[in-house]
Amino acid sequence: MKFTTTATICALFVEAVVGSATPPSSARSNIGRTHRIALNSRLSAANGSKVFDSRTVREQLQFVSRKYSATMGAYERNTGSRHPLNGRYNARSVAKRTTNGNVSLTNYDADLWYGDIEVGTPPQTFTMLFDTGSSDLFLPSIQCDVSCDGHTQYDPAASSSSKDTGQPFRQQAEYVDDVFVGGYEADDQTIGAAYAYSPEFSKDDFPPDGLSGLGFPEISEFEGSPLFQTLYESGQLPQGVIGFKLSTTPGASEMLIGGTNTSLYRSDTLTYIPVTQKGYWQVVMDGISRLGQDVIESHAAPAIIDTGTTLVITSDAIAQAYYANIPGATAHTEGEDTYWTIPCNIINSTVPTFIFGGHAFPVSPQTFNLGPDILSSDCLAGIAASSEMDFTIVGDVFLQNTYSVFDYRNTRVGFAELV
Ligand SMILES: *[C@@H]1O[C@H](CO)[C@@H](O)[C@H](O)[C@H]1NC(C)=O
Ligand SMILES: *[C@@H]1O[C@H](CO)[C@@H](O)[C@H](O)[C@H]1NC(C)=O
Ligand SMILES: *[C@@H]1O[C@H](CO)[C@@H](O)[C@H](O)[C@H]1NC(C)=O
Ligand SMILES: *[C@@H]1O[C@H](CO)[C@@H](O)[C@H](O)[C@H]1NC(C)=O
Repeated sequence: MKFTTTATICALFVEAVVGSATPPSSARSNIGRTHRIALNSRLSAANGSKVFDSRTVREQLQFVSRKYSATMGAYERNTGSRHPLNGRYNARSVAKRTTNGNVSLTNYDADLWYGDIEVGTPPQTFTMLFDTGSSDLFLPSIQCDVSCDGHTQYDPAASSSSKDTGQPFRQQAEYVDDVFVGGYEADDQTIGAAYAYSPEFSKDDFPPDGLSGLGFPEISEFEGSPLFQTLYESGQLPQGVIGFKLSTTPGASEMLIGGTNTSLYRSDTLTYIPVTQKGYWQVVMDGISRLGQDVIESHAAPAIIDTGTTLVITSDAIAQAYYANIPGATAHTEGEDTYWTIPCNIINSTVPTFIFGGHAFPVSPQTFNLGPDILSSDCLAGIAASSEMDFTIVGDVFLQNTYSVFDYRNTRVGFAELV
């Protein structure tokens, strides 16, 4: 499917949405009046006790690799050209990695943030991971096998607003239905209903029910409009933005649709960086420093801002440069993936500062230090590497240190210092 066709279908959706832009009925709008969506994470649910070990770091690296292979593949199918960052995700590895139906989901056996949406008529509540690194909305289907047990499952037959799109997909059916999120209504939102979940998504390992991708249509596997675009095009949002605060402090995390929560950040530090390539929330990172010294100074390092990835994952070259002068820093490599450990007594003094839009945003020891490794006496560090990557995925290790703003209207990302 080429993007031209997708765009036509999206245009039809937009018309339908504008035509029915009535306020949600009171029966449906039982979502908070403020549009603030409280987010939760495994760490905050566990009151701060660490959930990481080297196994979860390895799994996360593998699944992030699959997510990017799948979304890069979608980009290529949608636009007819290879994603500019796709140098190392060659076509063969994409084909190899997308053979099973669950590739679009990442593994969340790590710390990630999730909140509630409602779907259908009458509305049913689902807990979703809000992922700026992908663009599709997945739920477990009522027809899902035992692999979805414990998760809330979507029953299109029980929703008078659901419509089967008739699109054949591996391991899932595609519907459109009304989605209510943060006080707004996304009419006829495309939804993938999965028939099977991989073991990593069992209720014990993955508390949310599904995934809400907040990226651009270019990386969507569906032909419909991704959630953020649906909301934006509906004309309901006061501003075409979504603001995030991610924290491990219970009750402190939130996603705000249609505006930013000015009580959570210092307005004078809000720095916008243009999206350089629509698809992911892709921007240019100016550099990374440590102890006031530039470790990587590059004025053209591509970075993808991804709330759905826990770690910062970068190229081997950048990570090696970062860890080169840290005494006792040890690389642990398996296949294409490498993570690092640092002696726990010094890791707090090895934290990075990321430079975006000329502004320095430091990462705290609390977020960089993922805690003691079970295989060594050292601590796991928050920057990992993949030899498949010549870009940087800026995940929650960084994003917990800033207020972040995803601006759909102006295609830019904003970062501000937290209050
Ligand atoms: C902004 O954040 C504060 C503190 O978490 C919260 O009480 C308030 O409801 C939020 N504002 C909006 C508009 O959601
Ligand atoms: C976390 O703390 C809250 C309030 O102090 C408590 O109700 C809850 O059971 C605790 N959760 C865990 C997993 O310890
Ligand atoms: C999903 O992927 C996992 C990991 O690769 C695999 O073990 C599982 O069998 C897959 N499930 C389905 C339904 O394809
Ligand atoms: C490092 O920082 C963490 C989190 O702020 C703290 O709990 C820990 O005690 C610190 N470790 C050392 C050796 O200073």
